[in-house]
Amino acid sequence: MTDQNIYDNQTFFDGYQKLRENPASANNIVEKPTLFSLLPALQGKTIIDLGCGYGENCKEFSKLGALKVVGIDISEKMLEVAERENKLDNVQFMQLSMNDLSDITEKYDIVVSSLAIHYVENFDRLISSIHNLLTKGGSFIFSQEHPLTTALLKEDYWSRDDEGNILHYNLTGYSLLGERKIKWFIDDVKVYHRTFSSIINSMIAAGFIIEKVLEPLPDEKNMEKYPKYRKYYHKPDFLLIKARS
Ligand SMILES: C[S@@+](CC[C@H](N)C(=O)[O-])C[C@H]1O[C@@H](n2cnc3c(N)ncnc32)[C@H](O)[C@@H]1O
Repeated sequence: MTDQNIYDNQTFFDGYQKLRENPASANNIVEKPTLFSLLPALQGKTIIDLGCGYGENCKEFSKLGALKVVGIDISEKMLEVAERENKLDNVQFMQLSMNDLSDITEKYDIVVSSLAIHYVENFDRLISSIHNLLTKGGSFIFSQEHPLTTALLKEDYWSRDDEGNILHYNLTGYSLLGERKIKWFIDDVKVYHRTFSSIINSMIAAGFIIEKVLEPLPDEKNMEKYPKYRKYYHKPDFLLIKARS
């Protein structure tokens, strides 16, 4: 199986960078604060971040007291930024696919992954290799695109009235698991759709105890400041799960 490495495509990389520079991005307003709210105390802990991208979260884990942080990513370009901007003495970055986690022999207290897991095709294999990476009782915390987003067979997200106001979300294909090719900066970006129950059941089968499941909305202040996020009342963008091995 050849892994998709879309973040090394220059057009994609440039588009994604612009998105992340926006302080009002959904990552900054919704996903990141929720992910960090799920972290246990990090003092003295070892952490591995799967699909670490620019490594911003790795740097913060270190600042929050982690003993050692390893960030892995498939993209050379993302890791170049990580090495340049977010490297600290106890933070190490490595080019590795999430499909090759069995190459890592060390165990970690915490595995984190932010918005990367929906790029991996074989979820059962991934989840079981994540379980293997953890020390007994270790924490696994991840975010992914919400299954209601990955489901779509046509990228026709919203039905709107004549003034452009959202009426409802156009859900299609929810129960059809598997590959979707979406247009995001470039054509044919592959993501993998899994239903909510299939995600939870794969985790239980791998031996995880599910501790928390979140489908976050922006807080009231941000909802007021950025009315575009009112669409989250119809459909959240992210799913976050905290589990214990
Ligand atoms: C949306 S970005 C998120 C980056 C970072 N976690 C964050 O939240 O800022 C997704 C990242 O997953 C990485 N990725 C995608 N498929 C991967 C794979 N098979 N193995 C490792 N990393 C992968 C991409 O290169 C990209 O850096």
